[in-house]
Amino acid sequence: MKPSLKPETFLLAITLLCTLLGLGYPLSCEVCVGDGPNCRGKLQTCAPDEDSCIVVVTETNRMTSYKGCSKSSNCESGLFGFTVNHENYMGSKRRCCQKDGCNQDPLPAFVRNHTENGLRCPSCITAFTETCTATAEALCVGEETHCVAMSGLMRPAGDKFAVQGCGTKTACHSKPGTLVPSGARLFTIKKTSCL
Ligand SMILES: *[C@@H]1O[C@H](CO)[C@@H](O)[C@H](O)[C@H]1NC(C)=O
Repeated sequence: MKPSLKPETFLLAITLLCTLLGLGYPLSCEVCVGDGPNCRGKLQTCAPDEDSCIVVVTETNRMTSYKGCSKSSNCESGLFGFTVNHENYMGSKRRCCQKDGCNQDPLPAFVRNHTENGLRCPSCITAFTETCTATAEALCVGEETHCVAMSGLMRPAGDKFAVQGCGTKTACHSKPGTLVPSGARLFTIKKTSCL
């Protein structure tokens, strides 16, 4: 017996159904992480709750780029800047888009502003704990006009981390789940507070 629905017809029906229900067809995005301002990787299908493709570039003492699938709640553009001290700082920018493979282009280059702006914040940095006690003062630079405390998880190992220092408005208000790639690590922000 012949199947009553051809595969193409079936696919079309599913697409139509998803569109009608407002679910959207699964998005596919370029996925990669690497040194430098633009990594290259393969297109991969996103999870159903990931409605955006993301590109993130982070400047620490080196450049890291990250591309993948994301929830739109993690798409806050604007500079994510954070300073603990001269060795531990980062500036990060991101862009999201909502079409298949739309994150293949690199982000426009940016340079972190290293000029001190006069603000000083209590600072500390620890691994393996959810809080740290400030023992030093951070000298804020550029757009870092807030004193911020952040904690979360560091991949690949999944260890906890906690930091206090200077942050931009975006760092101060970043939503739980925000990813910040840095070197070989990927930080997931779980909690932020503006002091
Ligand atoms: C860098 O930051 C300083 C201090 O906030 C500011 O005065 C200066 O205008 C900034 N420079 C640029 C190029 O944004």
